[in-house]
Formats: sequence, structure tokens, C-alpha cells
Amino acid sequence: MAAKWLKNAVFYEIYPQSFLDTNGDGIGDFEGIIEKLDYIKGLGCNALWINPCFDSPFKDAGYDVRDYKKVAPRYGTNEDLYRLFEEAHKLGIHVLLDLVPGHTSEEHEWFRMSQKAEPNEYSDRYIWTSFCFEGCPGLPYIGGESERSATYILNFFKCQPALNYGFLKPDKPWMTGIHDPAAVATREAIKDVMRFWLDRGCDGFRVDMASSLVKFDDEKKSGTSAIWLNVREMLEKDYPEAAMVSEWGDPKLALRAGYDADFFLNVPGNGYSSLLRDYGMDPIGPDNSYFKKDSDHDISRFLGEYLDWYEDTKDIGYISMITCNHDTVRATLHLSPDELKIAYAFLFTMPGVPFLYYGDEIGMRYQFLPTKEGGYYRTGSRTPMQWSSGKNLGFSNASPEQLYLPVDPAEDAPTVEDQETDPDSLLNTIRRILMLRHKEEDLQADGSFEVLHAVKGEPFVYRRGKITIAVNPGLVEAEVPVSTEGKSLLFSIGTCRFEKNTFLIGPQSFAAIR
Ligand code: GLC
Ligand code: CA
Repeated sequence: MAAKWLKNAVFYEIYPQSFLDTNGDGIGDFEGIIEKLDYIKGLGCNALWINPCFDSPFKDAGYDVRDYKKVAPRYGTNEDLYRLFEEAHKLGIHVLLDLVPGHTSEEHEWFRMSQKAEPNEYSDRYIWTSFCFEGCPGLPYIGGESERSATYILNFFKCQPALNYGFLKPDKPWMTGIHDPAAVATREAIKDVMRFWLDRGCDGFRVDMASSLVKFDDEKKSGTSAIWLNVREMLEKDYPEAAMVSEWGDPKLALRAGYDADFFLNVPGNGYSSLLRDYGMDPIGPDNSYFKKDSDHDISRFLGEYLDWYEDTKDIGYISMITCNHDTVRATLHLSPDELKIAYAFLFTMPGVPFLYYGDEIGMRYQFLPTKEGGYYRTGSRTPMQWSSGKNLGFSNASPEQLYLPVDPAEDAPTVEDQETDPDSLLNTIRRILMLRHKEEDLQADGSFEVLHAVKGEPFVYRRGKITIAVNPGLVEAEVPVSTEGKSLLFSIGTCRFEKNTFLIGPQSFAAIR
């Protein structure tokens, strides 16, 4: 079961290219992360997830890895990353790297070797058909790019050939089974990459497209799960405190496949998206998010999905709630800072292991920008962190045209500097919420969760251990239908009052009583 430190972990996700540039080349670097570790700690975050920082042609922002064991020179050297681990550990901060096991860059040496006509050790490291005109039905494939007379399967973009973990039911001559030596060699190669980083101070991995290892007919993901369980065996034996967090979006499967935590991802129409981004496929369309002050406030859309997952998995691992991530439109597109305060108070008082995306603590805004490094619409959530009113909002000394992405051009672009001095800022509100979470074990990953009142349009009330929480995202004061006898106020945002035996929660407010 889960690495013990996860019980009280609050993660901060860093997109390294946009965090802090310390050498004036316009791109964030490891030194920048090291400089800001105190800031991160001061937020109340005690763990990091750093997006891929490995050598890469950056056609998908680093999710196209060219060398798993070498960091991208634009961020620094391997030694800089080892130092980052060390400095983070001194502050009690754990560090997860991003493991991309499903595919590599087409420029990875393994792939170069597998493209050769002459059979070699790497010929079956990727999924190749038997003939230059033969594709794989149902999966995207590429032909005509290699001396080898075959086509290869893609895992995501064109630059990302799929690694071969075998098929559960191989039924073509070119398909290997999951126990075939070639498939096992891929698995072992990824374990070797993991060992490399774990041996140098990394505390675990956020795993990219974790469910994507075995292609189609992988019933209930049994093939993919068997591979992860094998990886888990290695971790249990040699790295019992290493943590694994999956991008899977199905905790029932992921946690049974050996993951400690699985992300609740933003998928249009799902329970999570109903909270902060309820606009279907069109980000600028009408929004009915639960936390929007004038929505219909129907928490059941979230609970319908969450409760089933939570009940099924609470004894085996964690569900991770995110404020956003590098693939998701920042919630500021539709929600104001006051709406976000309530939303984050909710996210950070839920069970499991929460993740704060860099910049969300100050309400950085989504930017409409042309694509960069395969980002497309995601690019707008990847702009430089806004530290101060200084040059490039404190991100970099480079000239503005040299920046990885432009900084928010708005006159009133939020910055850390501005929000530091305002006790009611989003930044300071998040600090208060996270302080509360660290102080109260009931609010942490393992504390129990029970819904007390969830009626559309009325305050949502839930219990975490001995703490009762009421949320009112709406515009009018409302009565909280729970007894307050013998209880007192522990924490609040906005307003709340107690009149005789009635507990009234003000508009756009959040209150915890015990
Ligand atoms: C994951 C990553 C995303 C990337 C894709 C392919 O979804 O989060 O950024 O483009 O996988 O690796
Ligand atoms: Ca730099």
C-alpha cells in the first residue's frame, strides 16, 4: 500500500519551462525551481510533480522523450536535478518526476535502432507490423519513414511511436504476447529508467497515459495492470517509499494495478469537470460549473461519479483532485477569484492527495495563444509564472520576444508580489486552507468522508472525521441543515453566523465546524 508520506502530501505541479528562468535564456530551469522551494513550502505544498524535464525534441513539450536518463540541457544538468532533490528533501518536500512509459520520441535511440531493416535487439521494442503497406486496424500507424519494410503504431502524436508491451490476445504474426521476451524487455527497460532516478533521489513518478501500455482487447486492462503490478513488486522490494500517481482516470482499475493515487481528470461531461469547467467541448461557451456563483449548483453531478469511486477504493489508495494541469484550461476562464477560493477550499478538504497547478494559487488567467510545442489549446495554461511587477512579471531577464511563451499582458495580471500583502488574496486564502489541512488529520488523505446534505441549489454539507464542512457557492445566504450543538467554528471563508440553533452560511462562503 501507499507510500506513507502521501498521507499528508499536497502537491505542486511545475511546468518547468514556465516557472522561473535564472540564466536569462527565456526558459525556466532547475535553478529556478530550487530558488522557489521556500515559496512552495510556504504555500503549504510538501511535494512536487515536475513535468517531463528530459532530453527531447519538444514536439509535445517533453512528452516525447529522446533520452530518459539525461535531463534537457535547457533546464540544466543531471547534477542540477540531483541538487534539486537534495534541497527539496532538506525542506521535507518530495519530488515526483514524470514517467512516460507508453512511447518515446521518434528520435530516441531505441526507435532509431528499431527502424533498421537488419533485425537487432530493438526490433520489437516498438509495435511494428510485418509489411510496409500493412497497418494496424483501429490504431494510428505510420509507414514510409524507415528502411524497415513495416509500419509502426503511434501512442499519441505522430512523434510518439508506441513502445511494445505485447498484446493480451496476439492474433497477427507481428503481435507479441505480454510475456514474450521482447515485451518483457520493454517493461524491464522502463524499470531500469525508474531505478536510475530513484537511486538519485527522486521520490516516485507521475505516470503519463498509464493505461496505454497494452493495446486493444486488453479486457478490463488486465494486461496493462499485470505490467504495473510487476513494477510495484520491484518498488515494494527496493523502494518502499516511492510513490506512483497515474494519469489513468479510473481509480478502480489504477489503484488495483498498484498505483498509490489516480487523477480525477478533466473530461468534458464528467464529475470533476462539473465543478470548475462545465462548458462541454467549447471553453468559451456557457458555463454551469458548480462553483460558479450563478449556476444551478448541482453537486450530484460530481458526487454521482466520485462516491462510487471513493467507496470502492478508499481502502486501497487515493483519488487525486487537481486545481488544473498542463492539459487543462485554467479555471479562471469562467471562475472569479472569489469563486475559486470556495472551489479550492473544497478540493483541498477532500480525501486523497490534492494537486495545485503552478499559478493557480494567484489565479493566473488562461491565455488565447498560438500553439507551442504541441500544446494547441493547452498552450494557454502553460504561460510563465507571474512573480512580480518587474520585467516579464519576474519570470525572466530575457527580452520579451525570447520568452518560452509571452507573459499575461493584462494591466492587472495577478502576481505573487501583489497578493502577498493582501490577507484576502487567493494566494493567502490557499495558504490558510492548506495550513488547516496540515493541522487537522481528519482533513488529510485518509480521513473519512461522508455526505450530509447534497440538494441542488442548497449548501453542500459533508463530514471529514469530526469536522463538518458547509459550502455555499451561491449568491444568497442559506441555512445549513445540520445540528451545531456543541460545535464551534474552526475555519471560514466569507461569512457565516449562528443564530440560536441555526447555522447560516453567507453567499460565496465556506465554513468548517467541529
Ligand atoms: C498525457 C500528457 C500530455 C501529453 C500526452 C502524450 O496526456 O499529460 O501532456 O501530450 O500524455 O504523452
Ligand atoms: Ca533558463
